[in-house]
Amino acid sequence: MSDLTNQVAAVTGGGGILCRPMCEALASQGAKVAVLDIQRDAAQAVVDRITSAGGKAVAIETDVLQRDSLENAKKMIHEHFGPVDILVNGAGGNRPEATAGPDMSFFDLSPDAIRWVFDLNCLGTIMACQVFTRDMADRKRGVVINIASMAGIRPLTRVVAYSAAKAAIANFTQWLAVHMAQQYGPNIRVNAIAPGFFLTAQNEYLLVSKETGKPTPRGETILAHTPADRYGQPEDLLGTLLWLVSDGAAFTTGIVVPVDGGFASFGGV
Ligand SMILES: NC(=O)c1ccc[n+]([C@@H]2O[C@H](COP(=O)([O-])OP(=O)(O)OC[C@H]3O[C@@H](n4cnc5c(N)ncnc54)[C@H](O)[C@@H]3O)[C@@H](O)[C@H]2O)c1
Repeated sequence: MSDLTNQVAAVTGGGGILCRPMCEALASQGAKVAVLDIQRDAAQAVVDRITSAGGKAVAIETDVLQRDSLENAKKMIHEHFGPVDILVNGAGGNRPEATAGPDMSFFDLSPDAIRWVFDLNCLGTIMACQVFTRDMADRKRGVVINIASMAGIRPLTRVVAYSAAKAAIANFTQWLAVHMAQQYGPNIRVNAIAPGFFLTAQNEYLLVSKETGKPTPRGETILAHTPADRYGQPEDLLGTLLWLVSDGAAFTTGIVVPVDGGFASFGGV
């Protein structure tokens, strides 16, 4: 689908559930992949899989909330592979303490929990873009893929901070697409993928009952509103990723692509 030979990709949150297969898919198309994650072991496990399949990758412990850490990652990527052509901003997540519900009313959510979710999902993407799109601006080419969320398009009950922060990412994707094209040329493209519902550690507590292992009422509602009638699998995101990073998407910038089994389109009737 896309020949990425000799291109350098950096994937934040690359050790996580959705981004692991993204790293592997980029490597399988020939990209040299820097797997950036705050959990070094998780990043290294992805690198091991890529290298044992014959690809090129490096694990770099990185905190997307620390500018120094991002700058250090960039320096290491330069030393290993050269300037970054593709940036995937996957580091993100939610926290029960920032989620309104029976045990915690909206009125009492702590500013610290809200700030934590905003920082990780919003600031962590903006700062990574500040650090890595400089390479792209210098060379007048590059691709950024942000990982937004269906929660940012159709705000979900309960997950107040996460929905708002992901909505900001959709807006920032459009902003950066325009800024890069106008200031540094049309060959720098910025798009986002908005995954629908994928059963992962960040949402399992909301979707599966701890006691019974069966779907919670919220999980049942989600499936009933997903025309594809299932949760997504991480591999469902790969076709969209490889399209957006390829020359086939040369005229595509500033969009947010839902990969959601039809959730965003279904009015519920
Ligand atoms: N799982 C879903 O259903 C879903 C749906 C829509 C969007 N998303 C988004 O997709 C992305 C990946 O989510 P996931 O489900 O794979 O979650 P995950 O928790 O498996 O992966 C997130 C990764 O980010 C890393 N990380 C956390 N804080 C970091 C930091 N400060 N610096 C660097 N790395 C950090 C974690 O160590 C982890 O490896 C997130 O942005 C998430 O919000 C997930």
